[in-house]
Amino acid sequence: MKKHMFLQKDSKDRRNLPIGIFDSGLGGLTVVKEVLNFLPHESVIYLGDTARLPYGNKSEDTVLRFTKEAISFFSSKDVKILLVACNTASSLALPKLDDDYNFPIYGVIDAGVEEASKVTRVNRVGVVGTKATIQSGIYEKKLRKSSSNMEVYSKACPLFVPLIEEGWMEDSIAYKVSEKYLKDFKKEKIDVLILGCTHYPLMKTVIKYAVGDNVALIDSARSFAKKIKEFLSEQNLSADTAQSNCEFYVTDEPRLFRERSSLFLEKDIDFVTKINLEDYK
Ligand code: DGL
Repeated sequence: MKKHMFLQKDSKDRRNLPIGIFDSGLGGLTVVKEVLNFLPHESVIYLGDTARLPYGNKSEDTVLRFTKEAISFFSSKDVKILLVACNTASSLALPKLDDDYNFPIYGVIDAGVEEASKVTRVNRVGVVGTKATIQSGIYEKKLRKSSSNMEVYSKACPLFVPLIEEGWMEDSIAYKVSEKYLKDFKKEKIDVLILGCTHYPLMKTVIKYAVGDNVALIDSARSFAKKIKEFLSEQNLSADTAQSNCEFYVTDEPRLFRERSSLFLEKDIDFVTKINLEDYK
């Protein structure tokens, strides 16, 4: 798990600070959901860069710039840790960050890799994600590092995100698209598939149908939340209050975000604030 240098204050002071969670838009709410499942006492500040999504087909330079701007926003908020829920930002931007921040920054990739390498019995793992994530080769590189005889098969599935955002994750069209993207995984005889995108856990049923019941799906949002729970406890940074509070920020009109949020979070969000990242530079 990539951890950046940070200037640690007394951990006692920091325990009840919120966890920052950053994503390109809505999908990172799958990480919020899992974080709140595993860590119900934690407070969360969420930022979805809805004005500039999708990140999944953008270049490394652009995603790095957007991610740095998001980090500046979280710096103004005093969070105890920043989780980059977005697989694309974790793949493209985090390896390039070299500054020191006031909080540790974790990306979503390592937790999924770790879990997949534990679960596979035949060392044949598949990865699905956005075009940018798959082209970065980061999952492949990390999986190969985890075991010398690991075979990795990757596939970008760019149509999954719009299908899910449209609410068509179990529509017949989703079955067709999924079959087309994933049919080769059957030939490759993988036994584990990493869902390397914030949105894909919502398409589990359809993805499972395409790859077969004998393939274990790794929900990277879930693996990530489990890992963060361990990290906070090791660092004596777990919240010790019963009060948990969630704040949601977006960079575009909040209405759409609010309307679609329950798809990802499985509960409604009443209040979403629109911000301009320019103001936090
Ligand atoms: N959040 C992105 C990811 O996990 C998917 C949506 C996008 O392309 O912005 O890669």
